[in-house]
Formats: sequence, C-alpha cells, structure tokens
Amino acid sequence: PATTTEPVPGGPAVGGVPLAEIADRFGTPVYVLDEAEVRDRCRTYRDAFPDAEVLYAAKAFLCRAMVHWVEEEGLGLDVCSAGELELAVTTGFPPERITLHGNAKTPRDLETALRLGVGRIVIDSPSEIARLAAAVGPGGHQKVMVRVVPGISAGGHEKIRTGTDDQKFGLSIADGYAQHAIARILDQPQLELTGLHCHLGSQITSVKPYLAAVRRIVGLMARLHEQHGLVLRELDLGGGHGIAYRPGEAALDLTSLARKVRTELSDACGASGLPVPRLIIEPGRAIAGPAGVALYRVLSVKHTGSHTYVAVDGGMSDNPRPALYGVRYAPRLIGRHSAAAPASVTVVGRHCEAGDILAADAELPADVRPGDLLAVPVAGAYHLSMASAYNLVGRPPVTAVRDGIARLLVRRESLEDIRSRDVGL
Ligand code: LLP
Repeated sequence: PATTTEPVPGGPAVGGVPLAEIADRFGTPVYVLDEAEVRDRCRTYRDAFPDAEVLYAAKAFLCRAMVHWVEEEGLGLDVCSAGELELAVTTGFPPERITLHGNAKTPRDLETALRLGVGRIVIDSPSEIARLAAAVGPGGHQKVMVRVVPGISAGGHEKIRTGTDDQKFGLSIADGYAQHAIARILDQPQLELTGLHCHLGSQITSVKPYLAAVRRIVGLMARLHEQHGLVLRELDLGGGHGIAYRPGEAALDLTSLARKVRTELSDACGASGLPVPRLIIEPGRAIAGPAGVALYRVLSVKHTGSHTYVAVDGGMSDNPRPALYGVRYAPRLIGRHSAAAPASVTVVGRHCEAGDILAADAELPADVRPGDLLAVPVAGAYHLSMASAYNLVGRPPVTAVRDGIARLLVRRESLEDIRSRDVGL
C-alpha cells in the first residue's frame, strides 16, 4: 500500500514491512518497533561516548526483546522497580550491568535487587541508607551511588523537571542534604559509594544544563575529597536527552553533548586536582522513542463549528502524553493515496474525556474518513510503558519489524486478561 504523505521514520514501510500490512495483520491500535533503529541508536551512543557507560532507561519501554537488543549492543540498564529488574534478569541480562533507581523503593525492590545481585543501587533519601545497610547485612557488600540535586532547571515540561531543589527526587547539594547522606553512607562498611548521580529532567534539548551539572557535582566531589579524603570513581549524569516529535523540532545534539561534557569534566577535575571519574549516562527516550510508530484506525470524522474531530480506536489509554505534558504529534495518513488538500484537524481518542486528544492541529488530507489508517511517529518511548486499561480498553500489542518481517513481541491485552484480575463479588 502506498501513502500520500511524508514518510514516518523508516518510511511508510518500516523495517521493510508496509505499515498498513501490520495494521491488517495485528489489528489496531498497535505499536511497531523498528529493531534496526533501536540497535542503531544504541550504537550511536556507544560511538559518541566510547569511554562512558551507557545505561538504557528501561522505563521508556521494556519487553524481553528490548532487553536482548540492549544487551547485545553492549549497553547497561537503568531500572526503577523489581518488575523491570526481574524482567531483565530473567531474560538473561547480566545483573551487574543494572542500576536500580527509585525515590521510594519498596522492600520488594530492595530484596530483589540484592537477591539478583544488581550492580549499583542509587540512594535517593536519608532513610534509605539504614534500610539498605540492614538489608545487605553485616559482612555483605553493595555498590551504591547517591542521587544529588544540583539545583538546575531543565526539561521539556514542569512535570518532568528533576534538577531543581524543591521536588521529590534526590538530595540537594545547596541545602547540604547530599553531604549529610554521603557522610552517613561512609559509616556503613557494607555500602561502597562509587560515585554521584543526577538526573536533571527529561526532553532536554540543550547541552548547557549538563555542563552546569558537571561543574556543580565536581565541586561537591572536590569538597568531599577535602573533608573525607574521598575519591569517587563514577559520575552518572542521568538521561533526559531530547528528541523531535514533529518534523522541524529540536533534538539534543549527542556529538556536541559528548564532546563538551568530556571537556568540562576534565577541566573541572583538573582544576580541583581530582582524577576524572568514569561517565555514566542513562538515555531512555532517545533510544526507544524514534524507533516506534503507533497505528490507529479512524472510527469517525465529525465537523463542529470550528474543528474537525478525527476519532481513532485508541487514545489517552495508550498515549497519555498529550494530556499530561501537552506534547504534540504529527499523525500521517497511510494505506491509501489522497489528492485532497491538507486540512487542520484534531485527532481524538475513544475515551470518555474531552481531554482525550492525541494530536491537536494535525495536518491530514481533508478527505480523511472512517476506515483510514493513521500512523503516529515517535511512539516508542513512554507510550506502552505508561498505558492504562482506562474504560477497560486493553493495552495495544507491540510488534517488531526487521528485514521485511514483522513479529509479535507483546500481545494485545484482552478483555479476559482484564476480567481475570477481577476476583471479588
Ligand atoms: N534516568 C533517570 C533516573 C530517570 O528518572 C529517567 C526518566 C531517565 C534516566 C531517562 O530519561 P529519558 O532519557 O527517557 O528522558 N513520562 C515522561 C518522562 C518521564 C521520565 C522519567 N525519568 C514522558 O513521557 O515524557
């Protein structure tokens, strides 16, 4: 099948498979992941940061195939729950290459991490220190980092900014909480503090906040060296690397990030007489996001006084991002030719909320009609991982394409799946 409009990433056929064929075979809504694109993105990171450890942030999207791809491409993993951790390790991911995060780790998170032998645990609050030390037990050993808050505002939306002092993550440097927690960790013989971590936020498109973070954290490392003789070997700058959701939008320049961070780090360490710590980064969105496409079928087209509403068979249950962060997407008509002029329409979902908007001001051919297929590019990160079963609509399946072949990775959530959890009366 041909498409009329500009190609989605990888073309109207992704991984050599026409998208319309995937919609027909697996039904809609459906996510399509381009395996080659995921792997290419992993390699781009390895090439841009040859001396750094690159951890894929599993929260963006995780399934067993993704675990395999990331493992084969030589990345580590950042997880933030026992669920993500267990999925990775039971799929064969080496636990020592995994870092556990979380501002409120449950007893099960910690128990799983210790039982499976996770590489590092990132301490996020003072109360976690004693809990973790007790769980590790006397004579035990666990590598830890401390998540510090450098007091830097960055990120694409208020809800995903985590570098400023007054939010729930990490321990502030300016307020002295980070220093206090570090001193307590140094008193715990079973906890080995390998370095400091920060995550500034998400969808950051400028290199500058990362450089500012390097300066602040190296400044803290220098003070810790003076006070405790402490030499920290690792600096984890988190993720947050911004991507373009629509043509023409800015993305973070990875090559520039790599070059400037390296220079800033060696300059700052040189000036403080510290050895340069090993850099760790944790991209999630920039690896999975552009490799995914979501496909929907149009169910109705309605004209009101000022708008045309194109309603599809998915919505905020499979993509809450427009409602949460006001993100804008650029859906494309696929599967048929249209000579009609482009019109500005609002693509909405099927859920019982007026805010269930998938794409405001989308440009689609004016003759868009029920039965048409729409492809929403850049749907690989924080779509399925944040999907819900709102209105008891099951979550969509995930397919992967490679070398002209499409295969099912995650099956559609059925009504039986949903009903089977409902055990009371
Ligand atoms: N490291 C840590 C500690 C994080 O908390 C996150 C994201 C990442 C790495 C990866 O960030 P990324 O490179 O993917 O931006 N649901 C939001 C994003 C929330 C991100 C939470 N933490 C969204 O849909 O935009």
